[in-house]
Amino acid sequence: MHRKDFLRNTGFAAASLALASSNKLFAASADTKVKMGIIGVGQRGLNHLDLLLRREDVELVAICDIDDRTLNSAKEIINKSGKKMPEIFTGDNLAWKKMLEKKQMDGIVIATPWEWHKEMIIGSLESGIKYVGSEVIIGISLEDHWEVVHAAEKYKAHVMMLENVCYRRDVMAVLNMVRQGLFGELIHLQGGYQHDLREVKFNNGNDVYGHGAEFGEKGYSEAHWRTEHSVHRNGDLYPTHGVGPIANYININRGNRFISLCSFSSKARGLHNHIVKQGGESHPNAKVNFKLGDVVTTSINCVNGETILLQHDTNLPRPYSLGFRVQGTEGLWMDVNKSIYIQDKSAKAHQWDEAKQWLDKYDHPLWQRWSKETAGAGHGGMDFFVIHALVESIKNKTATPLDVYDAATWSAISPLSEKSIDLGCQTVEFPDFTGGQWMYRKPVFALTDTY
Ligand SMILES: NC(=O)c1ccc[n+]([C@@H]2O[C@H](COP(=O)([O-])OP(=O)(O)OC[C@H]3O[C@@H](n4cnc5c(N)ncnc54)[C@H](O)[C@@H]3O)[C@@H](O)[C@H]2O)c1
Repeated sequence: MHRKDFLRNTGFAAASLALASSNKLFAASADTKVKMGIIGVGQRGLNHLDLLLRREDVELVAICDIDDRTLNSAKEIINKSGKKMPEIFTGDNLAWKKMLEKKQMDGIVIATPWEWHKEMIIGSLESGIKYVGSEVIIGISLEDHWEVVHAAEKYKAHVMMLENVCYRRDVMAVLNMVRQGLFGELIHLQGGYQHDLREVKFNNGNDVYGHGAEFGEKGYSEAHWRTEHSVHRNGDLYPTHGVGPIANYININRGNRFISLCSFSSKARGLHNHIVKQGGESHPNAKVNFKLGDVVTTSINCVNGETILLQHDTNLPRPYSLGFRVQGTEGLWMDVNKSIYIQDKSAKAHQWDEAKQWLDKYDHPLWQRWSKETAGAGHGGMDFFVIHALVESIKNKTATPLDVYDAATWSAISPLSEKSIDLGCQTVEFPDFTGGQWMYRKPVFALTDTY
């Protein structure tokens, strides 16, 4: 199929699937079960494992990881579920390739360190898998993102980045409000990743969180790999939780697109100070120079005239907040102070309403329908929806509601922001991964209560 036809058809298919109501959810006989595999069953992969095991319409046929400790945790969870033990692939960094050669799978979930995602996504597509769900960040360089897009097009397959914040309950209620015009025409949006990760980036090599100043070879879980990115890179290294919801609000790649980006970085102090506090001045890691600025601020311009401000803030003491602000000609939502103001509709002029009353009133149909199933799923239940969307897309043989163009566009903010900072905070052009199709593609995300 020609690239443009593929783009159009997948968009059309997703729209029609979203409009069709399915009454067969979760029901499947043994031979129609969706065959799934997971590469990477670390902290995040174990969550996905749990969600896949809960479903009667999924057969987990294989898992792969290189760490015995986490594989043992995975086995324990599988045994407890009463489901059949999947084949386990392990031993070395390329064991996943053997898994792809040997097992027939309808879909795969990738939850490994960022630097593996591109290779694993493309390897999965080359092996014939048509549905790949990758954890956030699909590549490191800009070229990686193009390679993933081209591979999805070449194999006529679906790559969904498992961006769970798009499904957060308040985020979806605000999407509902945006679509019903409560905020008027959107003008400016903010978001980001403002999360004190010091105890994630450093631990004692045994605990997942904290109790030490180790990283790299001596660190465990994300301290084993993520911290290296703070040593060698300076940019918005984790943009998708903030930008994903924003992109859905303003229909990026579906009638709108990012056209340019500019990033600024502060000095870097937080990680060094944390090491000294944990391990003292003489700790060997106290000599490490961290390239990542403590607060990286990125501005993005959109072709339809909106501005976006993203902040990456992971090295300093602070409570967690993604810092959303959605502002239009009629009013705005700010999630930090949990407030909404709508001109002529809020209780008092110039005064905030508590967001809750609005968010409850505009609760998204997906949450109204599936809130029972979200119980116990990670991050307040929103994790349920990414796996649900992936599996339902496979069952319905349609495009995933978040597609490879969304994945590439959101994730490419990292290398673009690095480039901007490297050039002395110059504005850089945003590539159009859709090749002009953004003008014709229609919104498909969360149009109904199906998935
Ligand atoms: N969406 C979210 O809310 C959310 C939350 C946490 C993490 N994440 C993302 O999930 C991904 C994984 O993060 P994590 O916290 O689980 O990290 P982790 O370090 O706990 O887990 C990664 C796992 O991948 C395994 N692995 C590494 N190389 C491998 C290889 N070559 N073959 C097979 N397995 C390999 C490791 O042994 C480890 O078990 C990252 O992309 C991270 O950003 C997303």
